[in-house]
Amino acid sequence: MVHMERLAVVIPAAGVGSRMHAQTNKALLNLGGEPMVLRTVRQFWQHRAVQGIVLAVRQDEMLVLRELLDAAGLTTVQLCVGGSTRQESVHNGLQALPASTRWVAVHDAARPLVDAATISEGFTAVQRWGAVGVGVPVKDTIKVVETGVIKETPDRTRLWQVQTPQLFAYDLLLRAHEAAAATGWQGTDDCSLVERLGEPVYMVTGRYTNIKITTPEDMLVAQALLAAAPAQNGGSALVGFGYDVHAFAEDRPLILCGTVIPHTVGLAGHSDADVAVHALMDALLGAAGLGDIGRHFPDTDAAYAGADSMELLNQVLQLLARERITVNNVDITIAAQAPKLAPFMGAMQERLAGALSLPPQRVNIKATTTEKLGFVGRREGMAAYAAVSCSAG
Ligand code: CTP
Ligand code: MG
Repeated sequence: MVHMERLAVVIPAAGVGSRMHAQTNKALLNLGGEPMVLRTVRQFWQHRAVQGIVLAVRQDEMLVLRELLDAAGLTTVQLCVGGSTRQESVHNGLQALPASTRWVAVHDAARPLVDAATISEGFTAVQRWGAVGVGVPVKDTIKVVETGVIKETPDRTRLWQVQTPQLFAYDLLLRAHEAAAATGWQGTDDCSLVERLGEPVYMVTGRYTNIKITTPEDMLVAQALLAAAPAQNGGSALVGFGYDVHAFAEDRPLILCGTVIPHTVGLAGHSDADVAVHALMDALLGAAGLGDIGRHFPDTDAAYAGADSMELLNQVLQLLARERITVNNVDITIAAQAPKLAPFMGAMQERLAGALSLPPQRVNIKATTTEKLGFVGRREGMAAYAAVSCSAG
């Protein structure tokens, strides 16, 4: 088996966010329904190369952060007390890592939009070069200004904005921090400490979306970026599959995709027996890693007797929303020997698209007979299959 190198991560979050002018540390401000720092941590926590995370926090925020991390399932994230400068916070985080650590990434809590590709590319680069900063070429022309007067216009083609993550051989970065601390030298990033040692530090092209949240308008930009492309901002693609069967029964309405279909018989079941919506709910829960409908709506529970499956679908969608999972498209196949479903396809599609907040072309419904074979062919019941694609933002 190929031995995979792993990456330790130090996330400084012990600032006050003075330029944000908020009541709290900006790392705790709400971004997309959760404190910004949780999103930042999760971007690394979800990455397969990451072996451990140390979050440097203020002493007085230690408890609240432990609770937030645990509630979000990020229980393996370690906390350490930050210092009075970012550099000290990072230094403390480095010291909290095991001495055997080979590679370390330092990433600001204030950059919650870092994506998996940036982390992967940074990690590949550091294994080759030993010290790398992620950054982007500047777009504006930069001036050197003194007492209100432009002194110099550096050649823009040589100028880069450095971001985080910045990634290093652990020994090298620890040595750089010790050297800076020994002389009281303060830098605003970690690359500069390694540069001071005279070691080469390589620049890896990152993404303009990986902004640092510093002033209030940065929050607006971050919200817009998140809303625009959840999957582009570090989310992952999820797929789910669902299957359900119900037997035909006399004196029951036939309800498919929340739509009443005229037929001689309906489907038997504890709820309204909407076989298509049941398959869809199972697919959605499957994509979210949340089990199946039996777990969430047990048919032994009287509360779900005769339940409107569209209402249950709504509850499933709320569970997904809580996990910040968005649905991209759904594809459903209903297996039925009768009735003919073609005349109702439009209505069913519209009903589901409305419930899922998707355009109709993202909700595909198909029907098939089974050539009179099997229980469907013998008109004993119906089956439905659903596949869904979702994004975790
Ligand atoms: N940071 C830290 N310890 C400090 C200061 C900053 O861990 N003593 C962290 C911040 O929480 C942030 C990152 O370093 O995630 C980058 O710093 P910056 O954007 O400057 O954040 P703040 O220092 O909190 O903001 P400000 O400078 O506006 O006060
Ligand atoms: Mg600061």
